Amino acid sequence: AMCSAAASEGISLRVISGFRSHSKQTELFSNQVAKQRNNYPGLSEAELKEKASTISARPGTSEHELGLAVDFNSVEESFENTAQFQWLKANAAEYGFIMRYAREKQSITGVIYEPWHWRFVGIDIAKEINAKALCFEEYIEEINNKESVAE
Ligand code: DAL
Ligand code: ZN
Repeated sequence: AMCSAAASEGISLRVISGFRSHSKQTELFSNQVAKQRNNYPGLSEAELKEKASTISARPGTSEHELGLAVDFNSVEESFENTAQFQWLKANAAEYGFIMRYAREKQSITGVIYEPWHWRFVGIDIAKEINAKALCFEEYIEEINNKESVAE
C-alpha cells in the first residue's frame, strides 16, 4: 500500500531487501566480519563481531529475519538526499513504518545511520514515535518504565 501510494505521487520505492532467512543473515554478518578483519587485522574475533554488528545485525537479531523491516532503493547514506527518502519521512508513519536507525540515535541503537531501513511498528505507534522524536529503543524503554510504575 505504501509503495502504491508513493508511486501515485511519482515516487518509486523499490524494496531491495525485505524478509531474510536466518542463513542469509548469517552469510551477511560473516561477510561483514570478514570486511572488518581486512580493515583491522589486529582485532580479536569478538572485537570484529562487535564492529560488524554496527552495520549488519548479528544472526538471530535482525528485524529482516522477523520480516518487519524493509530496505529501500539504495544502502548508501546518500539515499537521504533523494525524493524517495523525503517522501518516506513525510508519509511512512501513515503506513506504520519508522526510520529505524537515525543519525542522531546511533549511540542508542548501536547501529550506523541507515536512511534506507524502515521498520513496521503499526500506524499508531509509528506516529507516536515520530511525534516524540524517539528511536524504537527509547520507545520500548518508555513502555517498560510505564509498566513498572503500574505494577
Ligand atoms: N543492517 C541492519 C542492522 C540489519 O542487518 O538488520
Ligand atoms: Zn535493513
